[in-house]
Amino acid sequence: MSVRLAHVSDLHLTAPGSDWRWRDWVGKRLFTWLNLRFFGRGRRFAHVERVLTRFAAELEERQYDRVIFSGDATALGFDTEMRRVAEILKVEQIPGLAVPGNHDYCTMGAARSGNFERRFAPWQQGTRINGQVYPFAQQVGHVWLIAVNSAKGSRWCWDATGRIGDDQRDRLRRLLHGLPPGPRILVTHYPICLANGRREGLAHGLKDVRDTVAAAAAGGVGLWLHGHRHRFYCLPQPPGAPFPVICAGSTTQSGLWNYGEYEIEGHRLRGVRRVYDPQSDAFRDADRFELELPGAKPRSECVSGV
Ligand SMILES: [Fe+2]
Ligand SMILES: [Fe+2]
Repeated sequence: MSVRLAHVSDLHLTAPGSDWRWRDWVGKRLFTWLNLRFFGRGRRFAHVERVLTRFAAELEERQYDRVIFSGDATALGFDTEMRRVAEILKVEQIPGLAVPGNHDYCTMGAARSGNFERRFAPWQQGTRINGQVYPFAQQVGHVWLIAVNSAKGSRWCWDATGRIGDDQRDRLRRLLHGLPPGPRILVTHYPICLANGRREGLAHGLKDVRDTVAAAAAGGVGLWLHGHRHRFYCLPQPPGAPFPVICAGSTTQSGLWNYGEYEIEGHRLRGVRRVYDPQSDAFRDADRFELELPGAKPRSECVSGV
């Protein structure tokens, strides 16, 4: 028996009628909006609705066992944006797992509001520790998916960092310790490293990455799935981690638009990067790759295509 997954990320949808408040005009949301409006981000995400609608049709056609969404549904962290993404993706009908990105927690208020968790509630079902929201685990076939929240609110416009925190990391250890056997795939927004293996910049990376990788490794995690970076990459042996990583990249950014399709049989993962073609308004197969997820065998290899 194999498990088929679709990995989508970094949608950055904007929605009309978003609810600006006075403090947004002096805080981080203004800076993010200026980036969107005047520094090219808006242009790069001009076709989000069209591509996302096509992706939603793709989900119905290809009937995945689970959709994995690794965050950044929104551009500005508004509830209107989250609601629209949840509607297009039909989260009430399609089985999935979702974690927030830093744009979904654009401000301290957005992080505290629980809007992301409310809009994606059907994709946040799972086994938890002491009823805390994160982390949580879902079983799909013989595979365990573990959702970890790496996003946090910030009031500083230059701060795009993430943090998992001691409390969540402690729950992650306990959750992993209690799970039955099977390949374990950790899903979060932030990467372990860049495509070239280097650490992310101080203002854009995951602050407690080292401790979290250690906790994941000790708990038998065999793969780390993430977004945040908008270009797809797969590293079979990233520096500092004993398991592979896959960055989905952005599904909706013009020119980069893609998502990952993974089929897992035992501990073997066969992946295809499916790329959007604006001429035909359809996704097509691009690169193929294979990974052996640690747990069954000590080493992994990326066979081709990345
Ligand atoms: Fe993003
Ligand atoms: Fe991000």
